[in-house]
Amino acid sequence: MHILITGGAGFIGSHVVRHFLKSYPSYTITNLDKLTYAGNLANLRDVESNPNYRFVRGDITDGDFLLQLFQENQFDGVIHLAAESHVDRSIANPTEFVVTNVLGTVNLLNAARASWQSDYEGKRFYHISTDEVYGSLGSEGLFTEETSYDPHSPYSASKASSDHFVRAYHDTFGIPVVISNCSNNYGSFQFPEKLIPLFINNIVNRKPLPVYGKGENIRDWLWVVDHAQAIDVIFHQGKSGETYNIGGHNEWSNIDLIRLLCRIMDGKLGRPSGESEKLVTYVTDRAGHDLRYAIDSSKLQRELGWVPSISFEKGLELTVEWYLSNAEWLDDVTSGGYQRYYEEMYGNR
Ligand code: NAD
Ligand code: DAU
Repeated sequence: MHILITGGAGFIGSHVVRHFLKSYPSYTITNLDKLTYAGNLANLRDVESNPNYRFVRGDITDGDFLLQLFQENQFDGVIHLAAESHVDRSIANPTEFVVTNVLGTVNLLNAARASWQSDYEGKRFYHISTDEVYGSLGSEGLFTEETSYDPHSPYSASKASSDHFVRAYHDTFGIPVVISNCSNNYGSFQFPEKLIPLFINNIVNRKPLPVYGKGENIRDWLWVVDHAQAIDVIFHQGKSGETYNIGGHNEWSNIDLIRLLCRIMDGKLGRPSGESEKLVTYVTDRAGHDLRYAIDSSKLQRELGWVPSISFEKGLELTVEWYLSNAEWLDDVTSGGYQRYYEEMYGNR
């Protein structure tokens, strides 16, 4: 089995590449990634010499390049994670999100369709999406697979649009697709623009912790390793044309999460209790900030037997320990050092 994983140098993608290489020694894994600011080959150092692993630097917005890549390789499956993923950046530059997330996904669908030529036996196109396509919940209820799409940010609108194209290619051309919509991930190798790694880094450096609005927004947090396991199960056993929600049944208001994180950090850094929380600074709210996300993942549990493996308290502690013992990784991504290395290696494109 030869699988193309897009966005494999990013946060979740690197965990998925690692998971598949370790769990399926007979598979060949090609990781296609543009290495944007969010892509970092250091995320895959422990598997890069695996003979079944290959890295290709390339851009999913380049349709001709993808057609050629699919012509040169017989991919049995695609697991598509490459995307612009940060909501705040989508507010600053929406167009980039349309180009990468919508056009990039359509280009990949076209390349898979051209390569598979209607012979879909044993083939699968798996699109990794987000719970943000469903919009925002009030204080009650959960997102199910039947919840109507109602995206609010340019990021979630672009992901919703790409989901619709994936379903349209299934319904129109018969491509065997599967989609999953997952809640907020946390864990090692997450770029420190997202809440948890940003705040860990700021606490270490005694910098302010910018809490948007009143910190009352709620997110449903899932350990990234559990997401990779869910992706494995859905890739192998999910029904073609179906959607699966993935979540940790683990809702936290931002401010409660931040207080927990501050307590863990005080303990690990040997600082007096309450020291990190003094860094909390309330700032202007994110425009269009969704109030609450919460996932009902009972379909995935019932039909495919997946459940999260770890409590949030344990997962967060492991995550803090990882960032504290990988200060070099954090320095490299905050200073942009890893990007200079790619420019030397691949040229500046
Ligand atoms: P990330 O930003 O860490 O990684 C994205 C990767 O895609 C990077 O390696 C980047 O270089 C690559 N990429 C970007 N544009 C590209 C292009 N034009 N061509 C090729 N590669 C390109 O993102 P992440 O947080 O790991 O998210 C991965 C996927 O999972 C995304 O599709 C995202 O929408 C989805 N998702 C993320 C979360 C989360 O909490 N982070 C939750 C649910 C779903
Ligand atoms: O729900 C899944 C989504 O989770 C993914 O699809 C996205 O790719 C991923 O980025 C994430 O989106 P969020 O916007 O929820 O994640 P972020 O870490 O940016 O923010 C989490 C919450 O914390 C959100 O309510 C905004 C708030 N926040 C975030 C930052 C970066 C702050 O209060 N301060 C901050 O500095």
